[in-house]
Amino acid sequence: MNDTIKLYRGEVFDFTDSPLDRSDAFRYFPDGALVVKEGIIIDCGPFKELEDRYAGCERIDYSGKLIMPGFIDSHIHYPQAEIIGMYGKQLLEWLNDYTFPAEQAFSSPEHAERIARFFVQELFRNGTTTCMAYATVHAASVNALFSVASEYNMCMMTGKVLMDRNAPDGLTDTAVRGEVESRSLIEAWHKKGRNRYVITPRFAISCSNEQLKAAGRLHEQYPDTYIQTHLSENKEEICNTLSLCPGCRDYLEVYERAGLVTDRSVFGHCIHLSDSECRRLAEAGSVIAHCPTSNLFLGSGLYDMRQANRIGMQTTLATDVGAGTSYSLLRTMGESYKVQQLNGYPMSVLESFYKCTLGAAKALHLEDETGSFEKGRKADFIVLDYAATPSQQIRREYLERNGKWELENKLFGLQTLGDDRNIVATYIMGKRM
Ligand code: GUN
Ligand code: ZN
Repeated sequence: MNDTIKLYRGEVFDFTDSPLDRSDAFRYFPDGALVVKEGIIIDCGPFKELEDRYAGCERIDYSGKLIMPGFIDSHIHYPQAEIIGMYGKQLLEWLNDYTFPAEQAFSSPEHAERIARFFVQELFRNGTTTCMAYATVHAASVNALFSVASEYNMCMMTGKVLMDRNAPDGLTDTAVRGEVESRSLIEAWHKKGRNRYVITPRFAISCSNEQLKAAGRLHEQYPDTYIQTHLSENKEEICNTLSLCPGCRDYLEVYERAGLVTDRSVFGHCIHLSDSECRRLAEAGSVIAHCPTSNLFLGSGLYDMRQANRIGMQTTLATDVGAGTSYSLLRTMGESYKVQQLNGYPMSVLESFYKCTLGAAKALHLEDETGSFEKGRKADFIVLDYAATPSQQIRREYLERNGKWELENKLFGLQTLGDDRNIVATYIMGKRM
C-alpha cells in the first residue's frame, strides 16, 4: 500500500475561472476524488476514474459531503477576538471605546500568543485556511501570529499596524520607528515558509503623511510584500480624513500620494467611493475586501458589488472580526447576499463562493499556491456537511423530493443557513487540523 498518497472521496467542487466571465468556470464531481501526496494536490476528478489509478492508496471516505478549497478571508483583525459583538455605536466611537483598549494588551507577548492561538483555531473551525490579518502596533503581536501559523504550515498574511496619531499613547509609534520595526519584521518573516508580510498603515486618520510615505517606501523596497488599510468605510471617517489631508480631492488620493495604491494593496470596506475612485482602484489592480457583517453591525453602509464588477474592481469577501460578527465565510456570504439584495443585485451563489476561494487567491497573487484543486496546489481544503442542522435537513429533503437537490441549491443553503456547524474537517497541506 502506498501510504504517502491519500484519496479523499466526496462531492468535489472548485473553480477554474471566474463565474462572471464563464458559465463553465467550475468543476463539480458528485462522486469525485481529490488525491493528495505529501501535502500537494496531485489529481482531482471522478472517483470511478481515479480509483484504479490510485488503487492501494489510503482512502478517506466523505461520500455525500462537499470537498472544496478552504476559504480565504482577506480582512480580519486577530487582536479584536475578545471584543467581537460589543454593543452600539459607529466606527470611530467603536474604535475608541472597544478596539484601542483591547489592542493595548498586545504589548504582552504572552497575551499575543494566547489570542493568536485562539484565533487560528477559530479560523480552522470555520473552514478558513488562509487569511490577511491585522496585528497591532506591537512587533510582538506579529511574531505571535506568524509563529502560531507556522506551526500549522498555514498561509498567513499579516503585519504590524502603523499609527502615529489619533490613538492612545500605548498604541502609537512614529513614522521612523514604524518603518524600522516593519523592515525588521519583513526580514524575519516575509516568505519564510508560507508567511507573507503585509505593510499595514491602519487608515489615514491614524497615520501622518510622513508615516504613509514611509509605508510606501517600504513597499518599494520590498515589492512583493502586500499593503492593507481601510478606505471609505464610514461617512464621519471620510470627513475627518479630508480635513486632516487638505489638498486631497478625495480619500483615495491620500493613499495614492504615498504610493500605496498598487496591485498588492487590499482596501477594507470601500463603501462610499466616487466613480473616479472606483476607476482608479480598478486601474491599479487593487483589491477590495467587502465585509458585510461588519458594515451592517457598525451601520457603515452597503457595498455596491454590481458597480464594482461593472468597473472591474477586484472584490474579495472578508469577515472583519471584531467589527464583523462571525469568523464564518458561509455567514459572510449570506450577509453579502442580503446587502446586495438591498442594492437590487441578487448576487449568484457561484459569485460569492468564487470570491472566497479562487477569486481571492487570484486577487492576492496566491493562485499558484491555494484556492483551487489544480495539480501542484497545496492541499488546503475543507469538508462540509450540507445538512448540519434540522432546518438544513428538512430543506434538503424537500429539494430531493422535488428533484432539485442540485449544486447551486446546495451551495445556497450552505451560504444562507450555514456556519461553523457545517465544517466537518479543515486540512492544511493535507493535514487535518
Ligand atoms: N478602521 C480603522 N481601524 C479599523 C478597525 O479596526 N476596524 C474597522 N472595521 N475599521 C477600521
Ligand atoms: Zn478592518
